[in-house]
Amino acid sequence: MDPWTPSSWTSKPIKQDVIYNDDKGVQASLAKLQNLPPLVTTQEITNLKKSLKNVALGKAFVLQGGDCAELFDYCNQDVIEAKVKLLLQMSLVLIWGANKPVVRIARIAGQFAKPRSSPMEVVDGVEMPSFRGDNINGFDATPESRNPDPSRLVSAYFHSAATLNYLRASLSSGLADLHSPLDWGLGHVITPSIKENYERIVSRVKDALRFMQTVGIDTDRGVETVEIFTSHEGLLLEYEQTLTRLLKNPSSESTHNAQAPVAATATTPLQSYYATSAHFLWIGDRTRQLDGAHIEFFRGIANPIGIKIGPSMTPDELVRILDVVNPTREIGKVTLISRYGASKIAQYLPAHIAAVQASGHLPVWQCDPMHGNTQSTPSGIKTRHFTDILSELRQALEIHRAAGSFLGGMHLELTGEAVTECVGGAAGLTEEGLGERYTTFCDPRLNEKQALELAFLVAGFYRDMDEEGMNSI
Ligand code: PEP
Ligand code: CO
Repeated sequence: MDPWTPSSWTSKPIKQDVIYNDDKGVQASLAKLQNLPPLVTTQEITNLKKSLKNVALGKAFVLQGGDCAELFDYCNQDVIEAKVKLLLQMSLVLIWGANKPVVRIARIAGQFAKPRSSPMEVVDGVEMPSFRGDNINGFDATPESRNPDPSRLVSAYFHSAATLNYLRASLSSGLADLHSPLDWGLGHVITPSIKENYERIVSRVKDALRFMQTVGIDTDRGVETVEIFTSHEGLLLEYEQTLTRLLKNPSSESTHNAQAPVAATATTPLQSYYATSAHFLWIGDRTRQLDGAHIEFFRGIANPIGIKIGPSMTPDELVRILDVVNPTREIGKVTLISRYGASKIAQYLPAHIAAVQASGHLPVWQCDPMHGNTQSTPSGIKTRHFTDILSELRQALEIHRAAGSFLGGMHLELTGEAVTECVGGAAGLTEEGLGERYTTFCDPRLNEKQALELAFLVAGFYRDMDEEGMNSI
């Protein structure tokens, strides 16, 4: 294999490429980005990597969620807070259900670029490029707005930075304080049964905190905040390359053997290339060709990475991809994000698990129950059914369990807003009701109510499994 560099991907065939017709503009934007500071630090990336290792080993659960396509306009106080609070509420429910720590990764602060099934579309009789995400072109349906605009690359960085700044500031100012989970704005839209269940969990958390205080354990440290990591699809490699930097590894990385002197060895280099646009990047289902540009770029970065896998992935190809992106078989370095669809998961997941088990790789297995379950209503609106989403999750859990593997987490498209994009859930949203608040710029997302309900149901699966486990002892 040829040596890796941050730009070695440019010699490989690439899918979903963006063709700019302003070369000078592209060069100016990339030069600007190259000079800007990293958005995340190596210490944070390494912390996430350690957490994901625990997930791979079955000791923690990972919740990843956010918009399908994040817009620059979502860089707004209310929108960010709503999303963060929802992820916090869901993770509290999952901690209670799965009885494990929950690692939170948001699709936020950079989830701008979108792969599309067709590069062009016809709107009102006019042919124009498809909307590719706010860091590439505009959503407005005119050929001018849809023309890829390289200045959006720099805007993407600053919108990511502002979002991340508010996220960090809110968390460090107590937004996630476990003493006040009822202040996380449990929405007006929540159904009574979900509200009641949620309040019951909160009261148990409060009891536990009171007990800890009574016995003298300091509850002000450690429960007042949590970490939320950022992620996006690493689609636009020009952008990712400029933010990929050779940086010193945090000391715990380079001194994993406390007896050994701190020195660069083959397994513990002193520095590595980190993608610093987010803590976690993933490769989409449309760009994961073994010999393609995206796999080439991803094989060189030290971040934990995700790979989407669907029905078109063969078990053999999956193992070969793992061998390329993770030759040292670091546990939890790779998250396999499966997205087959509720009617297909039983056909494909068992063979994928078996092949990975036989290979000796130990990835995080995460279920994305969204992308294999998209369908169109008779009137042409893209939607997803809550029952399909739940069914794919339940099957994933059962299939992993039967195979002696762990379902480490779930990957959802959701928003803290009261949108009407997915059908079903306790509030009984119907296809007729989809028009009310259908605001996604790409795929349909779960709204606050549906997302929290899903967390409860998944937590319930874990509790049921625990009870079954207890009964079979
Ligand atoms: C996505 O996660 O928004 C996406 C496009 O997914 P996939 O690559 O699995 O189709
Ligand atoms: Co999507």
